Amino acid sequence: APMHAPLRHDSAHKHVAGSADYIDDMPEPEGTLHAALGMSDRAHAEIVSMDLSAVRAAPGVVWVMTGADVPGHNDISPTGRHDEPVLAEGRVEFHGQPVFAVIAESREAARRAARLAKIEYRDLPHRTDVTDTIANGATLVTDPLTLSRGDADAALAASPRTISGEMRIGGQDHFYLEGHIALAIPGEDDEVTVWSSTQHPSEVQHMVGHALGVPSNAVTVQVRRMGGGFGGKETQSNQFAAIAAIAAKRLKRAVKFRPDRDEDMTTTGKRHDFLVAYEAGFDDDGRILAVEANYAARCGFSSDLSGPVTDRALFHADNAYFYPDVRLTSQPLKTNTVSNTAFRGFGGPQGMVGGERIVEEIAYALGKDPLEIRKRNFYGEPGSDRVLTPYHQPVEDNIVHRIVDELEQTSDYQARRQAILDFNAKSRVIRKGIALTPVKFGISFTATWYNQAGALVHVYQDGSIHLNHGGTEMGQGLFTKVAQVLADAFQVDIATVKITATTTAKVPNTSATAASSGSDLNGMAAYDAARQIKERLVAFAAEKWDVSPDDVAFVPHHVRIGETLVPFADFIRQAYMARVQLSATGFYKTPKIHWDRAKGMGSPFYYFAYGAAVSEVSIDTLTGEYQVDRVDVLHDVGRSLNPAIDKGQVEGAFVQGMGWLTTEELWWDDKGRLRTHAPSTYKIPLASDRPKVFNVRLAEWSENAEPTIGRSKAVGEPPFMLAISVLEALSMAVASVAEYRHCPKLDAPATPERVLMAVERLRGI
Ligand code: MTE
Ligand code: MOS
Repeated sequence: APMHAPLRHDSAHKHVAGSADYIDDMPEPEGTLHAALGMSDRAHAEIVSMDLSAVRAAPGVVWVMTGADVPGHNDISPTGRHDEPVLAEGRVEFHGQPVFAVIAESREAARRAARLAKIEYRDLPHRTDVTDTIANGATLVTDPLTLSRGDADAALAASPRTISGEMRIGGQDHFYLEGHIALAIPGEDDEVTVWSSTQHPSEVQHMVGHALGVPSNAVTVQVRRMGGGFGGKETQSNQFAAIAAIAAKRLKRAVKFRPDRDEDMTTTGKRHDFLVAYEAGFDDDGRILAVEANYAARCGFSSDLSGPVTDRALFHADNAYFYPDVRLTSQPLKTNTVSNTAFRGFGGPQGMVGGERIVEEIAYALGKDPLEIRKRNFYGEPGSDRVLTPYHQPVEDNIVHRIVDELEQTSDYQARRQAILDFNAKSRVIRKGIALTPVKFGISFTATWYNQAGALVHVYQDGSIHLNHGGTEMGQGLFTKVAQVLADAFQVDIATVKITATTTAKVPNTSATAASSGSDLNGMAAYDAARQIKERLVAFAAEKWDVSPDDVAFVPHHVRIGETLVPFADFIRQAYMARVQLSATGFYKTPKIHWDRAKGMGSPFYYFAYGAAVSEVSIDTLTGEYQVDRVDVLHDVGRSLNPAIDKGQVEGAFVQGMGWLTTEELWWDDKGRLRTHAPSTYKIPLASDRPKVFNVRLAEWSENAEPTIGRSKAVGEPPFMLAISVLEALSMAVASVAEYRHCPKLDAPATPERVLMAVERLRGI
């Protein structure tokens, strides 16, 4: 059956051959114009005056657009807080904020003209850094969250031992290979069609309508595929789409907006960086008794998704560990930087890194292997008194023990750790480290209403099938997986199913393809559509062949009706002639979940995905340089919908997580200007940085306890956090220079500079 088969990604060949069409590859409509941004060069200032005459007079310029030209609302805030304009008016709140847009005959002309603006500013004080912001009033950009259970203060006071500290965790640029792009084509009356590289077509539709001052039914948003999104195209596409659409309607010509890499990195939000302040109480065996932690995040100038992102950090501060008494708080800080946004894991990785730092500190305090502390603190078996999360949802599907035990065996962890301890005792310059870290990640949008999806399925007279659903394809293989679900339902070849571009005109009111829930939601919606068509077909066959409905079955390429085998296409043709409706819309909403944010209580997650990784690294203690020598992963995707795609997701997520925790460093100067806005200064992992040995296995015995599509589990984000094992292995290698007596407390990213500084610091102790 096509479901669960390791089929290749439907566009794999096209990706490699360069024949997969992205929006910039589409033939441009006659007379297409191009847009470029004029950006603020102040972090926080009043705009005193703006002289755009030279911009308007530049060759090829057709129109210069400012905030005052927005016909509807000059607002693309996805939260309804009205805190994010399309184009800044009156004041700017970060260095690089879009202030005007140039529309010209060519991209080059627009870009050149944008530099000719004369803007006079009156500077206001700016805060770009978390520490600085906390020291100066700690203005919040959205409502903070508290999760608490028991009495953390009392339990801390009563604990025989405690540790406390602070950890800085850096942000991350998405570095999708295809940057942002929008192509707006004006229609008649109030209509416009926008091709947008977005994970959230319905929101782009809504925002374009809001900015144009037209209802949603006037706006159609489409996307066939993205060259990567990683969360960076969940809300950040709105700006480009809105500007392109406004200009297209005004000028009655198609307008394409493709920022270059520097513009893209400067004007779009990134992963939030955090400052985690923690305190934990524990006993002499390393059993955690109490945890208190505050998660302060640099959110940027507007709320965007910072509320749910900082919430998710708290939801994952426990990772796989039971905290008997706990209080966790978030502090979503307003800063004069670009507004941070979704990024694979959605705050969860930062939460988890903080939790793992606590475990690491306890291990070093007691002189034990962190793995021993981990095992001692795992959530208990269902029914035990150690299953409640800080948000009061019991962990009912816990398989972390089995995952970790199995990986510990298959990776030969204990023997390798001993060999590394022996090696380090003798080696002067090169030191090694090894770490095994687990992941437990909650699946569902914490905004409960987002957990819904729709699909539209047509079966044509010739037996070919047209599939459309609300999910978007960004390389993760969602389209292939949903096509597999449909092919399985009808028992046809995957080639019989045509995968089509996501469009708001076919499936309305969709959620972002995010929170790893794409296949859970859209797979089920497509399955529901297939079920309806099949029910009609079965009723038709039973009547026409005069058999019981139970005697009608879909078998490979055929329908078996009693003793008769009818080829699928013939059967469909007959059903059409008998006027059977061969089209259906499907719908799905995730059951069970609920969440009361004000109380900090509920069951926001339908289930958890689990995994674990062992990483081994070598560092050069003279330069701080390092390499990842070997990685072993065991990851849980339930019953995989497609093991080939899922393995690719695990590998890609791991390497992306490794980049975040090692080499990818965002750096703002004292003027609030992002200085790492191109690959020359921002270092994503290269092919040469991949683990030298990389053994990735899926936990084949796992099956989702909940009735998800094919009993599968979401895969997109959870394996990102497996890379925490790299950070901790680096930490062990560093700790070796002081006989493992001190936790090196590496901040992230652990760049070679930070590793070297930590080595020097420990040698000085
Ligand atoms: N994989 C690829 N190749 N490209 C991407 O942009 N995004 C990730 C993940 N895997 C991404 C990816 C993120 S952030 C999420 S939330 C999920 O895919 C979204 O898709 P899914 O819900 O279908 O897994
Ligand atoms: Mo993924 S960060 O939920 O788009």
